[in-house]
Amino acid sequence: MIDACSDPRLRFLDGATVLVTGGGGLVGSRIVAQLARVGARPVVLDRFDAYPHPVRDRFEVDRHAAQVVLGDVRERATVRWLVGRADFVVHAAAYADVAACTRRPSTAFAANVHGTQTVLDAVADSAVKRLVFVSSASVYGDGARTEGGGTVIGGISRFSEEQPLTPISVYANTKLWAEHQVRLMLGGTGTAYSIVRYFSVYGEPQVPKPGSHSWMVPWMAMSAETGRPLRLNGGGHQVRDMVHVDDIARATILALVAEAAAGQTVNVGTGVATSVRRIAELIAAHYPGTAFVDTPMPEGDPRGGFADTRRAGDLLGWQPVVALADGINRYVAWLKATPGAIPDWFTAPAALAA
Ligand SMILES: NC(=O)c1ccc[n+]([C@@H]2O[C@H](COP(=O)([O-])OP(=O)(O)OC[C@H]3O[C@@H](n4cnc5c(N)ncnc54)[C@H](O)[C@@H]3O)[C@@H](O)[C@H]2O)c1
Repeated sequence: MIDACSDPRLRFLDGATVLVTGGGGLVGSRIVAQLARVGARPVVLDRFDAYPHPVRDRFEVDRHAAQVVLGDVRERATVRWLVGRADFVVHAAAYADVAACTRRPSTAFAANVHGTQTVLDAVADSAVKRLVFVSSASVYGDGARTEGGGTVIGGISRFSEEQPLTPISVYANTKLWAEHQVRLMLGGTGTAYSIVRYFSVYGEPQVPKPGSHSWMVPWMAMSAETGRPLRLNGGGHQVRDMVHVDDIARATILALVAEAAAGQTVNVGTGVATSVRRIAELIAAHYPGTAFVDTPMPEGDPRGGFADTRRAGDLLGWQPVVALADGINRYVAWLKATPGAIPDWFTAPAALAA
């Protein structure tokens, strides 16, 4: 675990109440753990139904949060009550899977658009010092195939915060709408905000979701662990900027307090592009004899790119510290040491056929 306590700016959070929507999820629970370590009082609002098997204990939400509220970000009274007691808000709750949002656009709209509006209505009317909205690099679109923006280096896109945004999935479109709405509603008010655009998050205790094509580290590690081949959509030539969840959590809590980040949008990525095939190779190195199989590109799956990290350095004073090979070593070690980490559905006949 990265020592989140070592940055003196985080002393501003000592004793502060921080509402973390989606604090029961992978990223939210890591944010909550780091907030607790710097002396803050994290309060979680979450539906706790993102995974079809129990992860709440494994994510240790109840261990680190001062209060855990089971509820929906669309519940106006609950959100108002929680925001009214908060010094800071991290809005991370979302229907957070590209494929699921494509299958169920109305659910994506409800959670990511309606839910964000409910949070903004409460925050705009409050004494909250800063809202951090969790967005996604998916707003950039399709990587090297995207017209009209960004820098293409060696055929791979480097995504910069000020370039045009061309989302190609329902999920990305909801995040883009929410970003704009944060700026429109909080810009020029007394409530500061920061928007963080995460690239591809991985790291223990991440577990896959059924029917997803995201989160390839757990998918591939669990496939290899159970003796299955590693699927390479589109041959695995698309690239991702893989950023460890501990680094993601640290960047997010810095975005709550970094003065220069107020009113700004900041990429949270490593600046390193890694092909999906390379990620598979790093995992397969732990499981000799693992086979690869090429599969078609799913709808909404971008060719990808990597983060321009200059703003993260300049505005947050953040840089990642977990190298991908080390992060994958950690994940595989965790997987091998954690009984029950592989969900039952993962080895059920339907999942095996997929
Ligand atoms: N994991 C990634 O690679 C990645 C990349 C970019 C952005 N993000 C964003 O990071 C945030 C956290 O994602 P994650 O990877 O931890 O996913 P996750 O599914 O583990 O966490 C999301 C949490 O939000 C909760 N939630 C969903 N809808 C809700 C609602 N209507 N009311 C209350 N709670 C609700 C879920 O129960 C879940 O616990 C999301 O906003 C996601 O879009 C993630």
